[in-house]
Amino acid sequence: MDKLVVEGGTPLQGEIAVSGAKNATLPLMASALLASGRHTFSNTPRLRDIRTMGRLLEHMGAACEHDALMRIDTSNVQRPEAPYELVKTMRASVLVLGPLLARHGSARVSLPGGCAIGARPINLHLDALKQMGAEVWLEEGYVVARTRELKGATITFEQITVTGTENILMAASLAKGTTRLLNAAREPEIVALADYLNAMGARIKGAGTSQITIEGVRELTPPAAAPFPVIPDRIEAGTYLVAAGITGGQITLTHCVPDHLESLIEKLRSAGLAIETSPGRIEVRSNGPIRSMDVKTYPFPGFPTDMQAQFMALMTLADGVSFIVEQIFENRFMHALELTRMGARIDLDGRSAMVRGVKNLSGAPVMATDLRASASLVLAALAAKGITSISRIYHLDRGYESMETKLSQVGARIWREKE
Ligand code: EPZ
Repeated sequence: MDKLVVEGGTPLQGEIAVSGAKNATLPLMASALLASGRHTFSNTPRLRDIRTMGRLLEHMGAACEHDALMRIDTSNVQRPEAPYELVKTMRASVLVLGPLLARHGSARVSLPGGCAIGARPINLHLDALKQMGAEVWLEEGYVVARTRELKGATITFEQITVTGTENILMAASLAKGTTRLLNAAREPEIVALADYLNAMGARIKGAGTSQITIEGVRELTPPAAAPFPVIPDRIEAGTYLVAAGITGGQITLTHCVPDHLESLIEKLRSAGLAIETSPGRIEVRSNGPIRSMDVKTYPFPGFPTDMQAQFMALMTLADGVSFIVEQIFENRFMHALELTRMGARIDLDGRSAMVRGVKNLSGAPVMATDLRASASLVLAALAAKGITSISRIYHLDRGYESMETKLSQVGARIWREKE
């Protein structure tokens, strides 16, 4: 296993190009199952989770190539199943459930099992598919679903769910009749998925709002148009904004969408960072001491839970006490325990964390526990005095393309070593 070694203390200076969004690419890849033929995407990030989804599609009989473009050919999909050994490494595999059921009338998808940040059940996905007429049952750790034909329905999610909204968007595209999704998630990744489904001939209105209407059609076909571009990764972008702030540096982000980061940018400005935005670009620079800020995580467009760990790292060096409330997941403070090893002062109480700012963090050996926790540790290490080694960084490789290369290019002293 690899580890990352960081020698902290250098203010970052320069330009970073943001990669395509992991959480947009995954549902787009799954949506290729809805229409037999060749699908092509551009700006797809080279990440572990993307490779896993590719392997999953190949297991079903699709062909998947990923060089400058991503090409998926679903002409020969004949095994509508997602095996445990692949699903256990990536929960987003559940995204093949809706498309397989809609296109093939059956699906056998391993239950994802728990993960570090919470139980992460998929009951809302399954209840919605049952409302659309599917028979769904559990068998030997697998979700088995079967239907002669999915029917449109009015579905209200009792809790906002991103992949739940995506699964039903895809299933409803080929259902008989109209589906109305209420309390739908509003993430930009959902708008991107709806755009691709509509390019394949679906009839979706309202994506990006909490009410989405999907008029089912008989079949979808891969878009004739040129490769479909994947939107930039707003969480990767946000992570590098914090990197500039925590090191007292100045960074320009390119290939990003500032509108996707409004709540984070607002919070970072209140914390003292100077941030200028223009189409495709964000310029951030440290502008005096980091001010302590309280934050609660919400579904989009609120402050993203996927930025909570990174923001906590910043607050460990703020000029006062910050209260952070994680409202989406029940166990997303694993990074706090590791940050404490670097000298941070953090008290946890259930879903709340009280962070008392300290003058300095000090380098230490720490361990990554989940994707965004590992990003948080890298950020703290960039600011800490001395050397930090971060083990189990396979977590980081799931969601950040060439992080150490991008950070080295703006002056960070960071390298990868064999564990
Ligand atoms: C998506 O996960 C993202 N993953 C997560 O990003 C992100 O943190 C999360 O949305 C919230 O924004 C992808 O898009 C691949 P949810 P998802 O369903 O869809 C509960 C990362 O770092 N819930 O919106 O799995 C659930 O337990 C990852 O890139 C149910 O109870 O999250 C959670 O408390 C981590 N039953 C809340 O809803 C269900 O059936 C929100 O979960 C579904 C969800």
